[in-house]
Amino acid sequence: MKSNLSNLILNHNATIRQSMKAIQENGVRGVFICEEGELLGIVMDSDIRRAILKNVNLDVSVKTVMKTNPFVISDKLSKIDTVNAIISSGKLLVPVINQNNIVTDYHNLNDILNDFYAIKNESKEKSYCKNKNILVIGGAGYIGSVLISKLVSLNHNVRVLDLLLYGKDNIKHISQERRVEFIRGDCRDQKVIQKALENIEIVIHLGEIVGDPACTINEVFTIDVNYSATQMIVDQCIRLGIEKFIFASSCSVYGQNDNEVNELSHPNPVSLYARCKIESEHAILDHHSNFFSPTVLRLATVHGKSFRQRFDLVINFFAIKAIIEKKIQIFGGKQWRPFISVHDICKGIIDILNSSKSVVRNQIYNLGDSRENYTLNEVGSFIKEIIDDVEIEILSDKNDNRNYKVNFDKIKNDIGFTADYTIKDTIIDFYETYRTEHKFSDYLQSKYYNKFCLT
Ligand SMILES: NC(=O)c1ccc[n+]([C@@H]2O[C@H](COP(=O)([O-])OP(=O)(O)OC[C@H]3O[C@@H](n4cnc5c(N)ncnc54)[C@H](O)[C@@H]3O)[C@@H](O)[C@H]2O)c1
Repeated sequence: MKSNLSNLILNHNATIRQSMKAIQENGVRGVFICEEGELLGIVMDSDIRRAILKNVNLDVSVKTVMKTNPFVISDKLSKIDTVNAIISSGKLLVPVINQNNIVTDYHNLNDILNDFYAIKNESKEKSYCKNKNILVIGGAGYIGSVLISKLVSLNHNVRVLDLLLYGKDNIKHISQERRVEFIRGDCRDQKVIQKALENIEIVIHLGEIVGDPACTINEVFTIDVNYSATQMIVDQCIRLGIEKFIFASSCSVYGQNDNEVNELSHPNPVSLYARCKIESEHAILDHHSNFFSPTVLRLATVHGKSFRQRFDLVINFFAIKAIIEKKIQIFGGKQWRPFISVHDICKGIIDILNSSKSVVRNQIYNLGDSRENYTLNEVGSFIKEIIDDVEIEILSDKNDNRNYKVNFDKIKNDIGFTADYTIKDTIIDFYETYRTEHKFSDYLQSKYYNKFCLT
């Protein structure tokens, strides 16, 4: 039900915290800031989330995050022109004003689109998931480059949008595929996104600055890519009536947790990377649209070989270092982590694509397998078991507070997902690849690292 307009109007003396409260209490995406009824500006939940990520004091004036000159609709406009103007603006919340700039009403984009797409999508429910047009943002990355091969083999048409931060060799394997189209571009750019979304039915969003160390290099850039762009992409999907949206979040949102955690546990992020994931999850799931069908997947730490190899992931790094140098160092050792192979991540994403909307819509799933939670000491034991003559040194850990053991029952119960591969399979695979192909002796090269540090 539409909230009362008066609840959405705040005086220009209000604080950011008060506007946040009004947004939460009224289930809307923003509030209007007025002086004696006259519109000064608008504050959206995304403006507040950005302020939170930048550690802005929430008790300062709301004017510090307010957008002036917002998109408005005149109260003289006809109903049909109002609907068309709001849809083409893509604005989530639009004030209606009279000739004196006084707010007299407002419109939610979602309410308008719900009516519009309800008719269009009625017969689509069971048509997943053959020959779909799928956009994979970040498709040239570690997970994306494997995923796009699998999607093509299932006869989907795949468009990849990627900035190619880690080079273009990662997508050489699909360069001749007629079902793959590549756009080199920045997912922060609305025009690029609009082009990338043309004729797309499903979006899989993997395009981010990945890992705690990489995210600290330039925090403003990180917030722009890892939060603001996600919000904008979601808004554009909704505007275009794209139903299915899969977002790669991370189990690192659980941060430091001594008890086993599941999707209902309180997140405890200990890095900007994880905080951006939490805020993006909200941006995606707070939409309450009747047709938009997003699913958030909190990925366990991934391992295994990929077309864009990463060695800044703990299993991959330990395995290759142990194989080549016969010595690894484990910091701490008692901390728990959930692990999953890159093939199983892709399988899980595809399983979500093939699942009924009524099951996975608006859901958060931990993507992994409860059997694959290990302490780093246990990982060390596996390495010793599989690779000959390895020395393991345990050092005290001063930097890394992350410790989380994750329950994956929800995805198993809802869609039957379990992992096919274990971390032992990956260690053996790296060992065999090195022995037979002499690959990865250059494992310290910067191309394998988002930033030289383990995630
Ligand atoms: N690998 C893991 O262990 C793991 C664990 C949990 C979650 N995830 C999530 O899975 C997703 C993919 O991770 P990955 O391991 O493949 O990382 P990756 O760094 O290999 O891939 C990310 C890709 O996104 C692209 N990209 C970055 N910024 C972009 C921008 N502004 N515009 C367009 N493209 C951009 C990069 O060029 C890169 O190809 C990320 O969202 C990550 O947070 C990964």
